[in-house]
Amino acid sequence: MTDVNNKTLWGGRFDEAASPLLRQFNDSLPFDQRLWLEDIFGSMAYAEGLARAGILTTEESDLLLAGLEQVAQEWRDGVFQIASGDEDIHTAVERRLGELIGPVAGKLHTGRSRNDQIATDQRWWLRNRIDELDGLLAGLITVAVARAEAEIDVLMPGYTHLQLAQPMRWSQWLLSHVWAWQRDRERLADLRRRANLSPLGAGALAGNPFAVDRHALAADLGFDGPIPNSIDAVRDRDYVVEFLSWAALLGVHLSQLAEDLILWSSREFGFVSVAEQFSTGSSIMPQKRNPDSLELVRGKSGRLAGNLMALLTTLKGMPAAYNKDLQEDKERLFDSVDTLLITLPVTAGVVQTLSINPQRMRAALGDELLATDLAEYLVRRGVPFRQSHELVGRAVKRAESLDVPLSELSLAEFQAISSEFGEDVAAVFDFEQSVERRDVYGGPSRRAVQEQIEELRTHLM
Ligand code: ARG
Repeated sequence: MTDVNNKTLWGGRFDEAASPLLRQFNDSLPFDQRLWLEDIFGSMAYAEGLARAGILTTEESDLLLAGLEQVAQEWRDGVFQIASGDEDIHTAVERRLGELIGPVAGKLHTGRSRNDQIATDQRWWLRNRIDELDGLLAGLITVAVARAEAEIDVLMPGYTHLQLAQPMRWSQWLLSHVWAWQRDRERLADLRRRANLSPLGAGALAGNPFAVDRHALAADLGFDGPIPNSIDAVRDRDYVVEFLSWAALLGVHLSQLAEDLILWSSREFGFVSVAEQFSTGSSIMPQKRNPDSLELVRGKSGRLAGNLMALLTTLKGMPAAYNKDLQEDKERLFDSVDTLLITLPVTAGVVQTLSINPQRMRAALGDELLATDLAEYLVRRGVPFRQSHELVGRAVKRAESLDVPLSELSLAEFQAISSEFGEDVAAVFDFEQSVERRDVYGGPSRRAVQEQIEELRTHLM
Protein backbone atom coordinates (compact mmCIF):
# COMPACT_ATOMS: atom_id res chain seq x y z
CA MET A 1 0.00 0.00 0.00
CA THR A 2 1.28 3.42 -0.86
CA ASP A 3 0.58 6.22 1.56
CA VAL A 4 -0.20 8.65 -1.14
CA ASN A 5 -3.85 8.92 -0.17
CA ASN A 6 -3.27 9.19 3.55
CA LYS A 7 -4.13 12.85 3.42
CA THR A 8 -7.61 12.26 2.11
CA LEU A 9 -10.42 11.54 4.54
CA TRP A 10 -11.04 8.24 2.82
CA GLY A 11 -7.64 6.83 1.81
CA GLY A 12 -7.76 3.59 3.82
CA ARG A 13 -9.21 1.29 1.20
CA PHE A 14 -7.26 2.76 -1.70
CA ASP A 15 -3.96 1.62 -3.17
CA GLU A 16 -3.67 4.20 -5.86
CA ALA A 17 -3.75 7.93 -5.76
CA ALA A 18 -6.56 9.77 -7.47
CA SER A 19 -5.79 10.96 -10.97
CA PRO A 20 -4.90 14.66 -11.10
CA LEU A 21 -7.71 14.91 -13.58
CA LEU A 22 -10.17 13.56 -11.05
CA ARG A 23 -8.81 15.87 -8.38
CA GLN A 24 -9.43 18.83 -10.60
CA PHE A 25 -12.88 17.56 -11.47
CA ASN A 26 -13.94 16.50 -8.01
CA ASP A 27 -12.38 18.97 -5.58
CA SER A 28 -14.80 21.59 -4.37
CA LEU A 29 -12.46 23.65 -2.20
CA PRO A 30 -12.02 26.35 -4.84
CA PHE A 31 -15.66 27.29 -4.39
CA ASP A 32 -16.79 25.82 -1.06
CA GLN A 33 -14.01 27.53 0.94
CA ARG A 34 -16.37 30.43 1.37
CA LEU A 35 -18.25 28.19 3.80
CA TRP A 36 -15.29 28.13 6.21
CA LEU A 37 -17.07 29.99 8.96
CA GLU A 38 -20.20 27.85 8.87
CA ASP A 39 -18.08 24.70 8.62
CA ILE A 40 -15.96 25.57 11.64
CA PHE A 41 -18.78 26.80 13.83
CA GLY A 42 -20.86 23.81 12.82
CA SER A 43 -17.98 21.60 13.95
CA MET A 44 -17.78 23.43 17.26
CA ALA A 45 -21.43 22.76 17.92
CA TYR A 46 -20.92 19.15 16.90
CA ALA A 47 -17.93 18.73 19.25
CA GLU A 48 -20.07 20.01 22.09
CA GLY A 49 -22.85 17.66 21.03
CA LEU A 50 -20.43 14.72 21.16
CA ALA A 51 -19.31 15.78 24.63
CA ARG A 52 -22.91 16.04 25.80
CA ALA A 53 -23.52 12.54 24.43
CA GLY A 54 -20.52 11.29 26.44
CA ILE A 55 -18.45 10.41 23.37
CA LEU A 56 -15.79 13.01 24.10
CA THR A 57 -14.40 14.04 27.46
CA THR A 58 -14.66 17.70 28.37
CA GLU A 59 -10.88 17.98 27.94
CA GLU A 60 -11.12 16.57 24.42
CA SER A 61 -13.97 18.83 23.39
CA ASP A 62 -12.21 21.84 24.89
CA LEU A 63 -9.13 20.99 22.87
CA LEU A 64 -11.23 20.68 19.72
CA LEU A 65 -12.97 23.98 20.37
CA ALA A 66 -9.71 25.83 20.97
CA GLY A 67 -8.17 24.28 17.86
CA LEU A 68 -11.20 25.12 15.73
CA GLU A 69 -11.11 28.68 17.00
CA GLN A 70 -7.49 28.88 15.91
CA VAL A 71 -8.36 27.55 12.44
CA ALA A 72 -11.15 30.12 12.22
CA GLN A 73 -8.71 32.85 13.15
CA GLU A 74 -6.40 31.79 10.33
CA TRP A 75 -9.25 32.06 7.84
CA ARG A 76 -10.32 35.38 9.29
CA ASP A 77 -6.78 36.74 9.02
CA GLY A 78 -6.43 35.43 5.49
CA VAL A 79 -3.42 33.30 6.42
CA PHE A 80 -4.99 29.84 6.19
CA GLN A 81 -2.68 27.71 4.03
CA ILE A 82 -4.41 25.37 1.63
CA ALA A 83 -2.56 22.04 1.29
CA SER A 84 -2.36 19.96 -1.85
CA GLY A 85 -4.59 17.22 -0.45
CA ASP A 86 -7.43 19.52 0.60
CA GLU A 87 -10.42 18.19 -1.29
CA ASP A 88 -13.07 20.45 0.17
CA ILE A 89 -13.59 22.85 3.06
CA HIS A 90 -14.31 19.98 5.47
CA THR A 91 -11.04 18.23 4.62
CA ALA A 92 -9.05 21.45 4.79
CA VAL A 93 -10.37 22.40 8.23
CA GLU A 94 -9.92 18.92 9.68
CA ARG A 95 -6.41 18.57 8.27
CA ARG A 96 -5.35 21.88 9.78
CA LEU A 97 -7.02 21.03 13.07
CA GLY A 98 -4.92 17.84 13.21
CA GLU A 99 -1.75 19.82 12.62
CA LEU A 100 -2.65 22.14 15.46
CA ILE A 101 -3.98 19.80 18.14
CA GLY A 102 -2.81 16.33 17.14
CA PRO A 103 -4.72 13.04 17.01
CA VAL A 104 -7.73 14.18 19.03
CA ALA A 105 -8.74 16.06 15.89
CA GLY A 106 -9.59 12.65 14.50
CA LYS A 107 -12.43 12.33 16.99
CA LEU A 108 -14.37 15.29 15.63
CA HIS A 109 -15.95 13.43 12.75
CA THR A 110 -17.34 10.64 14.97
CA GLY A 111 -20.80 9.72 13.69
CA ARG A 112 -20.79 12.59 11.28
CA SER A 113 -20.53 12.50 7.50
CA ARG A 114 -19.63 15.20 5.06
CA ASN A 115 -23.12 14.62 3.74
CA ASP A 116 -24.86 16.06 6.78
CA GLN A 117 -21.98 18.47 7.28
CA ILE A 118 -22.20 20.17 3.88
CA ALA A 119 -25.98 20.34 4.03
CA THR A 120 -25.68 21.99 7.45
CA ASP A 121 -23.02 24.46 6.33
CA GLN A 122 -24.94 25.45 3.27
CA ARG A 123 -28.32 25.87 4.91
CA TRP A 124 -26.77 28.04 7.57
CA TRP A 125 -24.86 30.10 5.03
CA LEU A 126 -27.98 30.61 2.92
CA ARG A 127 -30.08 31.62 5.90
CA ASN A 128 -27.68 34.47 6.56
CA ARG A 129 -27.60 35.49 2.89
CA ILE A 130 -31.41 35.42 2.85
CA ASP A 131 -31.45 37.92 5.70
CA GLU A 132 -28.89 40.07 3.91
CA LEU A 133 -30.83 40.00 0.63
CA ASP A 134 -34.07 40.79 2.41
CA GLY A 135 -32.42 43.88 3.87
CA LEU A 136 -31.26 44.97 0.40
CA LEU A 137 -34.70 44.43 -1.05
CA ALA A 138 -36.26 46.41 1.79
CA GLY A 139 -33.72 49.14 1.00
CA LEU A 140 -34.79 49.21 -2.65
CA ILE A 141 -38.44 49.40 -1.61
CA THR A 142 -37.67 52.25 0.80
CA VAL A 143 -35.99 54.26 -1.96
CA ALA A 144 -38.84 53.68 -4.43
CA VAL A 145 -41.56 54.45 -1.90
CA ALA A 146 -39.85 57.71 -0.93
CA ARG A 147 -39.73 58.70 -4.61
CA ALA A 148 -43.34 57.75 -5.15
CA GLU A 149 -44.35 59.99 -2.29
CA ALA A 150 -42.17 62.93 -3.29
CA GLU A 151 -43.32 62.82 -6.92
CA ILE A 152 -46.96 62.00 -6.39
CA ASP A 153 -48.07 65.04 -8.47
CA VAL A 154 -46.41 63.87 -11.65
CA LEU A 155 -48.77 62.61 -14.35
CA MET A 156 -47.74 60.52 -17.33
CA PRO A 157 -49.31 58.28 -19.93
CA GLY A 158 -50.01 54.71 -18.94
CA TYR A 159 -49.42 52.07 -21.59
CA THR A 160 -50.78 48.68 -22.49
CA HIS A 161 -49.31 46.89 -25.52
CA LEU A 162 -46.86 49.83 -25.48
CA GLN A 163 -49.73 51.93 -26.84
CA LEU A 164 -51.13 54.97 -25.08
CA ALA A 165 -53.81 53.72 -22.71
CA GLN A 166 -54.94 55.92 -19.81
CA PRO A 167 -53.31 58.71 -17.79
CA MET A 168 -51.69 57.70 -14.53
CA ARG A 169 -49.45 58.96 -11.81
CA TRP A 170 -45.73 58.28 -12.18
CA SER A 171 -45.94 57.08 -8.58
CA GLN A 172 -48.57 54.50 -9.47
CA TRP A 173 -46.18 53.02 -12.02
CA LEU A 174 -43.30 53.03 -9.56
CA LEU A 175 -45.39 51.39 -6.85
CA SER A 176 -46.54 48.71 -9.28
CA HIS A 177 -42.95 47.46 -9.24
CA VAL A 178 -42.67 47.89 -5.50
CA TRP A 179 -45.63 45.58 -4.91
CA ALA A 180 -43.88 42.84 -6.89
CA TRP A 181 -40.81 43.28 -4.65
CA GLN A 182 -43.05 43.21 -1.60
CA ARG A 183 -44.32 39.79 -2.73
CA ASP A 184 -40.70 38.77 -3.27
CA ARG A 185 -39.99 39.61 0.35
CA GLU A 186 -42.95 37.52 1.46
CA ARG A 187 -41.82 34.59 -0.66
CA LEU A 188 -38.32 34.88 0.76
CA ALA A 189 -39.60 34.83 4.33
CA ASP A 190 -41.65 31.78 3.47
CA LEU A 191 -38.84 29.78 1.91
CA ARG A 192 -36.55 30.73 4.78
CA ARG A 193 -38.72 28.62 7.07
CA ARG A 194 -37.95 25.53 5.00
CA ALA A 195 -34.28 26.40 4.52
CA ASN A 196 -33.58 27.00 8.18
CA LEU A 197 -33.73 23.38 9.34
CA SER A 198 -30.81 21.29 10.53
CA PRO A 199 -29.50 18.16 8.78
CA LEU A 200 -26.79 17.68 11.43
CA GLY A 201 -26.90 14.26 13.03
CA ALA A 202 -28.31 12.60 9.92
CA GLY A 203 -24.87 11.07 9.23
CA ALA A 204 -24.20 9.75 5.77
CA LEU A 205 -27.88 8.85 5.42
CA ALA A 206 -28.72 6.51 8.29
CA GLY A 207 -28.57 8.76 11.30
CA ASN A 208 -26.16 9.07 14.18
CA PRO A 209 -25.30 6.02 16.33
CA PHE A 210 -23.96 8.02 19.27
CA ALA A 211 -27.26 9.48 20.36
CA VAL A 212 -26.34 13.09 19.72
CA ASP A 213 -29.28 15.33 20.46
CA ARG A 214 -30.30 16.63 17.04
CA HIS A 215 -32.75 19.10 18.55
CA ALA A 216 -30.05 20.63 20.72
CA LEU A 217 -27.61 20.74 17.78
CA ALA A 218 -30.22 22.50 15.67
CA ALA A 219 -30.91 25.03 18.39
CA ASP A 220 -27.18 25.67 18.92
CA LEU A 221 -26.78 26.57 15.26
CA GLY A 222 -29.83 28.83 15.18
CA PHE A 223 -31.96 26.47 13.13
CA ASP A 224 -35.69 26.23 13.76
CA GLY A 225 -35.39 22.46 14.30
CA PRO A 226 -33.90 19.25 12.87
CA ILE A 227 -35.02 17.73 9.55
CA PRO A 228 -37.25 14.78 10.49
CA ASN A 229 -35.81 12.14 8.12
CA SER A 230 -32.09 11.34 7.84
CA ILE A 231 -32.19 10.41 4.14
CA ASP A 232 -34.20 13.49 3.26
CA ALA A 233 -31.81 15.55 5.38
CA VAL A 234 -28.78 14.70 3.22
CA ARG A 235 -30.55 14.67 -0.13
CA ASP A 236 -32.98 17.57 0.08
CA ARG A 237 -31.99 20.55 -2.03
CA ASP A 238 -35.55 21.87 -2.36
CA TYR A 239 -34.51 24.89 -0.35
CA VAL A 240 -31.85 25.71 -2.95
CA VAL A 241 -34.35 25.24 -5.77
CA GLU A 242 -36.82 27.46 -3.95
CA PHE A 243 -34.17 30.08 -3.43
CA LEU A 244 -33.01 29.95 -7.06
CA SER A 245 -36.60 30.15 -8.20
CA TRP A 246 -37.14 33.13 -5.94
CA ALA A 247 -33.99 34.74 -7.33
CA ALA A 248 -35.08 34.05 -10.91
CA LEU A 249 -38.46 35.65 -10.35
CA LEU A 250 -36.93 38.66 -8.63
CA GLY A 251 -34.60 38.86 -11.63
CA VAL A 252 -37.63 39.00 -13.90
CA HIS A 253 -39.17 41.78 -11.80
CA LEU A 254 -35.97 43.82 -11.82
CA SER A 255 -35.62 43.24 -15.54
CA GLN A 256 -39.12 44.57 -16.19
CA LEU A 257 -38.39 47.71 -14.20
CA ALA A 258 -35.13 48.12 -16.09
CA GLU A 259 -36.86 47.74 -19.44
CA ASP A 260 -39.47 50.41 -18.64
CA LEU A 261 -36.76 52.83 -17.59
CA ILE A 262 -34.45 52.05 -20.51
CA LEU A 263 -37.28 52.72 -22.93
CA TRP A 264 -38.31 55.90 -21.17
CA SER A 265 -34.75 57.16 -21.07
CA SER A 266 -34.54 57.15 -24.87
CA ARG A 267 -34.70 60.51 -26.63
CA GLU A 268 -38.03 59.55 -28.18
CA PHE A 269 -39.67 59.27 -24.77
CA GLY A 270 -37.38 61.46 -22.68
CA PHE A 271 -39.38 60.77 -19.50
CA VAL A 272 -36.41 59.81 -17.35
CA SER A 273 -32.69 60.19 -17.38
CA VAL A 274 -30.34 57.76 -15.68
CA ALA A 275 -27.77 59.59 -13.53
CA GLU A 276 -24.27 59.87 -14.93
CA GLN A 277 -23.00 57.79 -12.00
CA PHE A 278 -25.00 54.89 -13.39
CA SER A 279 -24.41 55.51 -17.10
CA THR A 280 -21.51 54.88 -19.41
CA GLY A 281 -20.37 56.36 -22.69
CA SER A 282 -19.39 55.02 -26.07
CA SER A 283 -15.82 54.63 -27.24
CA ILE A 284 -16.75 55.90 -30.69
CA MET A 285 -19.88 58.04 -30.42
CA PRO A 286 -19.05 61.04 -28.24
CA GLN A 287 -22.66 62.01 -27.61
CA LYS A 288 -23.69 58.70 -26.05
CA ARG A 289 -24.87 58.21 -22.52
CA ASN A 290 -26.02 54.65 -22.18
CA PRO A 291 -28.07 53.14 -19.36
CA ASP A 292 -25.68 50.18 -18.97
CA SER A 293 -26.57 49.74 -15.32
CA LEU A 294 -30.17 48.97 -16.24
CA GLU A 295 -29.18 46.86 -19.24
CA LEU A 296 -27.09 44.69 -16.94
CA VAL A 297 -29.95 44.46 -14.45
CA ARG A 298 -32.09 43.25 -17.35
CA GLY A 299 -29.34 40.96 -18.61
CA LYS A 300 -28.61 39.35 -15.22
CA SER A 301 -32.12 37.93 -15.18
CA GLY A 302 -30.85 35.40 -17.73
CA ARG A 303 -28.23 33.88 -15.48
CA LEU A 304 -30.62 33.83 -12.54
CA ALA A 305 -33.12 31.83 -14.58
CA GLY A 306 -30.31 29.65 -15.92
CA ASN A 307 -29.08 28.76 -12.44
CA LEU A 308 -32.54 27.49 -11.55
CA MET A 309 -32.78 25.38 -14.71
CA ALA A 310 -29.31 23.95 -14.12
CA LEU A 311 -30.08 22.73 -10.63
CA LEU A 312 -33.52 21.36 -11.50
CA THR A 313 -31.92 19.36 -14.29
CA THR A 314 -29.17 18.09 -11.98
CA LEU A 315 -31.67 16.93 -9.38
CA LYS A 316 -34.04 15.22 -11.77
CA GLY A 317 -33.56 11.46 -11.75
CA MET A 318 -31.03 11.48 -8.94
CA PRO A 319 -31.34 8.33 -6.84
CA ALA A 320 -31.86 8.24 -3.08
CA ALA A 321 -29.74 9.97 -0.47
CA TYR A 322 -26.43 11.71 -1.18
CA ASN A 323 -24.82 11.61 -4.62
CA LYS A 324 -21.95 13.76 -5.80
CA ASP A 325 -24.32 15.39 -8.26
CA LEU A 326 -25.38 17.48 -5.29
CA GLN A 327 -22.05 19.27 -5.27
CA GLU A 328 -23.28 21.04 -8.40
CA ASP A 329 -25.76 23.06 -6.34
CA LYS A 330 -23.06 25.27 -4.86
CA GLU A 331 -21.77 27.31 -7.77
CA ARG A 332 -25.33 27.94 -8.99
CA LEU A 333 -26.40 29.03 -5.53
CA PHE A 334 -23.35 31.23 -4.95
CA ASP A 335 -23.76 32.79 -8.36
CA SER A 336 -27.39 33.73 -7.81
CA VAL A 337 -26.64 35.11 -4.35
CA ASP A 338 -23.64 37.10 -5.58
CA THR A 339 -25.58 38.38 -8.57
CA LEU A 340 -28.35 39.74 -6.37
CA LEU A 341 -25.97 41.11 -3.75
CA ILE A 342 -24.75 43.57 -6.38
CA THR A 343 -27.85 43.87 -8.58
CA LEU A 344 -30.13 45.03 -5.75
CA PRO A 345 -27.93 47.91 -4.57
CA VAL A 346 -27.28 48.97 -8.18
CA THR A 347 -31.02 49.03 -8.88
CA ALA A 348 -31.63 51.02 -5.70
CA GLY A 349 -28.88 53.44 -6.73
CA VAL A 350 -30.35 53.92 -10.19
CA VAL A 351 -33.86 54.47 -8.83
CA GLN A 352 -32.61 56.91 -6.23
CA THR A 353 -30.50 59.04 -8.58
CA LEU A 354 -32.70 58.94 -11.66
CA SER A 355 -34.08 62.27 -12.79
CA ILE A 356 -37.52 62.56 -14.28
CA ASN A 357 -38.87 65.04 -16.79
CA PRO A 358 -42.47 65.83 -15.79
CA GLN A 359 -42.88 68.25 -18.73
CA ARG A 360 -42.04 65.53 -21.23
CA MET A 361 -44.43 63.17 -19.49
CA ARG A 362 -47.15 65.82 -19.54
CA ALA A 363 -46.52 66.56 -23.21
CA ALA A 364 -46.99 62.89 -24.03
CA LEU A 365 -50.48 62.93 -22.59
CA GLY A 366 -52.64 62.85 -25.72
CA ASP A 367 -56.38 63.34 -25.74
CA GLU A 368 -56.95 59.76 -26.81
CA LEU A 369 -55.88 58.75 -23.29
CA LEU A 370 -59.23 60.22 -22.21
CA ALA A 371 -61.39 58.25 -24.65
CA THR A 372 -62.34 55.88 -21.84
CA ASP A 373 -63.27 58.87 -19.69
CA LEU A 374 -65.43 60.13 -22.50
CA ALA A 375 -67.27 56.80 -22.64
CA GLU A 376 -67.68 57.00 -18.86
CA TYR A 377 -69.12 60.50 -19.25
CA LEU A 378 -71.88 59.04 -21.42
CA VAL A 379 -72.37 56.19 -18.92
CA ARG A 380 -73.02 58.77 -16.21
CA ARG A 381 -75.76 60.12 -18.47
CA GLY A 382 -77.40 56.72 -18.63
CA VAL A 383 -75.92 55.35 -21.87
CA PRO A 384 -75.03 51.64 -21.55
CA PHE A 385 -71.23 51.22 -21.62
CA ARG A 386 -71.17 49.02 -24.74
CA GLN A 387 -73.02 51.74 -26.63
CA SER A 388 -70.95 54.60 -25.24
CA HIS A 389 -67.77 52.73 -26.19
CA GLU A 390 -69.06 52.51 -29.74
CA LEU A 391 -70.09 56.20 -29.84
CA VAL A 392 -66.73 57.40 -28.52
CA GLY A 393 -65.01 55.14 -31.04
CA ARG A 394 -66.82 57.07 -33.74
CA ALA A 395 -65.80 60.38 -32.18
CA VAL A 396 -62.16 59.25 -32.17
CA LYS A 397 -62.42 58.29 -35.81
CA ARG A 398 -64.07 61.60 -36.68
CA ALA A 399 -61.35 63.58 -34.91
CA GLU A 400 -58.73 61.53 -36.72
CA SER A 401 -60.30 62.21 -40.11
CA LEU A 402 -60.50 65.96 -39.32
CA ASP A 403 -56.93 65.74 -38.01
CA VAL A 404 -57.79 67.46 -34.73
CA PRO A 405 -57.30 66.31 -31.14
CA LEU A 406 -60.38 64.68 -29.64
CA SER A 407 -60.86 67.64 -27.28
CA GLU A 408 -61.11 70.01 -30.22
CA LEU A 409 -64.00 68.28 -31.86
CA SER A 410 -66.83 70.84 -31.82
CA LEU A 411 -69.96 70.27 -29.77
CA ALA A 412 -71.88 70.06 -33.05
CA GLU A 413 -69.59 67.23 -34.19
CA PHE A 414 -70.08 65.43 -30.88
CA GLN A 415 -73.83 65.88 -31.02
CA ALA A 416 -73.94 64.61 -34.58
CA ILE A 417 -72.65 61.35 -33.11
CA SER A 418 -74.95 61.33 -30.06
CA SER A 419 -77.41 63.80 -28.62
CA GLU A 420 -76.25 62.65 -25.16
CA PHE A 421 -73.13 64.80 -25.53
CA GLY A 422 -73.71 68.16 -23.80
CA GLU A 423 -71.80 71.42 -23.25
CA ASP A 424 -70.08 69.92 -20.23
CA VAL A 425 -68.24 67.39 -22.41
CA ALA A 426 -65.31 69.83 -22.53
CA ALA A 427 -64.74 69.22 -18.81
CA VAL A 428 -63.84 65.59 -19.54
CA PHE A 429 -60.54 66.69 -21.07
CA ASP A 430 -58.66 67.09 -17.83
CA PHE A 431 -55.92 64.56 -17.10
CA GLU A 432 -55.73 65.33 -13.41
CA GLN A 433 -59.47 64.85 -13.03
CA SER A 434 -59.32 61.60 -14.95
CA VAL A 435 -56.73 60.22 -12.55
CA GLU A 436 -58.54 61.60 -9.51
CA ARG A 437 -61.83 60.00 -10.53
CA ARG A 438 -60.07 56.62 -10.23
CA ASP A 439 -60.19 56.85 -6.50
CA VAL A 440 -60.82 53.17 -5.91
CA TYR A 441 -58.58 51.21 -3.51
CA GLY A 442 -55.37 50.50 -5.44
CA GLY A 443 -56.13 53.20 -8.01
CA PRO A 444 -53.99 56.10 -9.23
CA SER A 445 -55.80 58.96 -7.42
CA ARG A 446 -53.62 60.91 -5.03
CA ARG A 447 -55.46 59.51 -2.03
CA ALA A 448 -55.29 55.93 -3.28
CA VAL A 449 -51.58 56.19 -4.06
CA GLN A 450 -50.92 57.66 -0.64
CA GLU A 451 -52.86 54.77 0.85
CA GLN A 452 -50.55 52.31 -0.94
CA ILE A 453 -47.53 54.15 0.39
CA GLU A 454 -48.83 53.83 3.96
CA GLU A 455 -49.59 50.16 3.44
CA LEU A 456 -46.12 49.47 2.06
CA ARG A 457 -44.57 51.28 4.97
CA THR A 458 -46.29 48.97 7.44
CA HIS A 459 -44.44 46.10 5.71
CA LEU A 460 -41.16 47.94 6.11
CA MET A 461 -41.52 48.27 9.87
N1 ARG B 1 -18.10 18.69 -1.54
C1 ARG B 1 -19.25 17.90 -1.27
C2 ARG B 1 -20.50 18.62 -1.73
O1 ARG B 1 -20.41 19.76 -1.99
C3 ARG B 1 -19.34 17.64 0.19
C4 ARG B 1 -19.99 16.36 0.54
C5 ARG B 1 -19.14 15.26 0.12
N2 ARG B 1 -19.69 13.99 0.50
C6 ARG B 1 -19.17 12.88 0.01
N3 ARG B 1 -19.72 11.78 0.38
N4 ARG B 1 -18.19 12.85 -0.83
O2 ARG B 1 -21.57 18.07 -1.87
